[in-house]
Order: sequence, then structure tokens, then C-alpha cells
Amino acid sequence: MLVLGLETSCDETAAAVVEDGRRVLSDVVSTQVDIHRRWGGVVPELASRNHIVQVMPVLHEALTRAGKTLDDIDLLAVTSGPGLIGALLVGLQVAKGLSLATGKPFVGANHLEGHLLAIRLLEEAPSPPFLGLVVSGGHTSLYEVRDYGNYRLIGRTRDDAAGEAYDKTARILGLPYPGGQPIDELAQKGNPEAIRFPRALPGDNFDVSFSGLKTAVLHHVQKHGVPEGRALHDLCASFQEAVADVLSKKLVAAAKRLGHTQLVLCGGVAANSRLRALCKQRAEAQGLRMFLPPVRLCTDNGAMIAVAGYEAWRRGLRGDFRLAADPAWRME
Ligand code: KG4
Ligand code: ZN
Repeated sequence: MLVLGLETSCDETAAAVVEDGRRVLSDVVSTQVDIHRRWGGVVPELASRNHIVQVMPVLHEALTRAGKTLDDIDLLAVTSGPGLIGALLVGLQVAKGLSLATGKPFVGANHLEGHLLAIRLLEEAPSPPFLGLVVSGGHTSLYEVRDYGNYRLIGRTRDDAAGEAYDKTARILGLPYPGGQPIDELAQKGNPEAIRFPRALPGDNFDVSFSGLKTAVLHHVQKHGVPEGRALHDLCASFQEAVADVLSKKLVAAAKRLGHTQLVLCGGVAANSRLRALCKQRAEAQGLRMFLPPVRLCTDNGAMIAVAGYEAWRRGLRGDFRLAADPAWRME
């Protein structure tokens, strides 16, 4: 089954052709970061307008690189939530339009389920049940994947998402948006023990919190000024260590408490070098298996939407022309 996945929920216009939910034939991502950077974050209206400009060329490119035409496609999968309403509507309307014009079926895919199921594109993928930690710009949520389509939310952030904490910290430090990658790069040459930032591990559950950490960075900068050189590397490394410490601890603790042996890290922040290393190290120390998608599958892409759409289709989900975008669609 050939699935064309289409993603326009935030600031990436992406399309991919995936065979049987496993084999990527093409994966094209057009990012709008340069447009949003000067505003320090995603401007929803600008995102919608640029999706409109990019969506058809990106779709065309995905088909061309796969060596396919729309005629070869069996299913159109499109992100219908969660995300920015105007941005979601662009992809959804395109999918509906193509479906109407070609007679091909379409299905609405959940963006978070896409992040979680991107791991299926790996040669060696876990099979349910497993624990999946989605860490992105908008979400930090821990799910028990009992089966495909059967998810239980067991922990989440009480305030900022991990990616949001990165982006806000970058802004405090005068680094470009999005802040994850620049902080990650600076941190690699710094001392993670230079500053002991707070670790919020609220209660005996699997929730996390990052707003205190962000405030601690702000207070540090207010007291010592915006760091440069070695001090900037140290601050980034110390911040990064606090984020990775909290997330990896909660993930491994949840696995032990609930008896899971397979763990998945996904979403944009799963691209983070320290988070990947610490999760792997702590999981393996407990005899657990850590699955890490390659970096290009961590950030938003069309392949993960094709996989989520394929799974939704197998569960019997069908899109019809009344399907609405749902900016707050909860996967569970
Ligand atoms: O999943 P994603 O591409 O979009 C959303 O669904 O939100 O995640 C984007 C987030 C941004 O906050 C970005 O700063 C963060 O992922 N990110 C990183 C890294 N690369 C991207 N955070 C930490 N380290 C990275 N290397
Ligand atoms: Zn995402």
C-alpha cells in the first residue's frame, strides 16, 4: 500500500511516500524557520500563508523523488491535529481536494501519533507494548503504547514543553530560533556541572516541569549578564544536562514501575545529543532497550504522517469531507 503523507501542522511543509507503513520512498521537508526566526517564534498567520505557497511544490517533489504519480498512490494521509488551526487547514483542504479530484481515499492522522510511530521506519522497530516519550516544541508527554491505536497518557509537562524551554532559553541568551540545535551545539563544548540548575520532579508520578528551569536561567543572566565564550558553553551544557536528567529519569522510572522493557524517544527534542545519550545509558543500565529514531525522523516530517495514516486506515478510520481540523486532538 502506497501512502502519501502530508504535514502542515506547524512551520514545516512536508510530504513523503511510504510503502506499507515501513519503507520510505521519498521524504521532502520545506522549513519556514527563516521566515519565523525574526519574530522569535512561529507566527500562525505567516505559517498558513507559507504552507499555501509550498504545499503543492513539496507534494510534487515527494512524488517525483519516489518515482510515482498520484495514480500510484493508494491513500492520502494528512495531519488533521493537533497543531495550528490555519496551518492544519491548508494540508487538510489539499488532501480533500486531491481525494475529490482523483477518487483516492484520505485519512486524518494525529501529529503526535506520527512522532510516536516514526520509529516503525527503523529496520529494528519495537512492537507494542512500549513506552514512548514525545518531546517537541508543543508537547512533552509520556505514553504507554498498549497497541497501535491504544495509547494511555501517563505523564506530561505541567507547564512548558521541553522544546519550548529550549526556545525560550535561547531567546534569553540571544541565540536564534528555534533554540534546540544551537544550544545543543554550544553545550557540547561546555561543562554540564558548571551551574547546578534546578531539576523539577514534581511528586511521585511521571509529570515534569520546565518553567522553573527557564526562570533559573533568566535569574542567572540577570545576575551575571548574557554569557559569552566559555561561560556560554557552560550555561548551555548545564541547562541541557538539567533537561536530559529529568526526562531520562522519569522515562526509566516509568518503565520500571509499569514493567516495560522497550522505550522510544521521539519529537524534535529527541534530536538532542545529550538526551539521546543519557536515555540510552540509563535505560541500558537497567536492562531496558532504548529505541532512538534518526534525527531527520525526530523533527516534523511527512513520513511519520504516512505511517500514522497507514495505521489509522488499518484500524478502519476513514476521512470524509466533513472531517475537521482539530488543533487540540488528544491521541489517547
Ligand atoms: O517536533 P518538532 O519538529 O515540532 C513540533 O511538533 O513542535 O519540534 C521542534 C522543537 C523545537 O522546540 C526545537 O528547538 C527542538 O524541537 N529541537 C531540539 C533540537 N533540535 C530541535 N531541542 C533540543 N536539541 C536539539 N538538537
Ligand atoms: Zn512535531
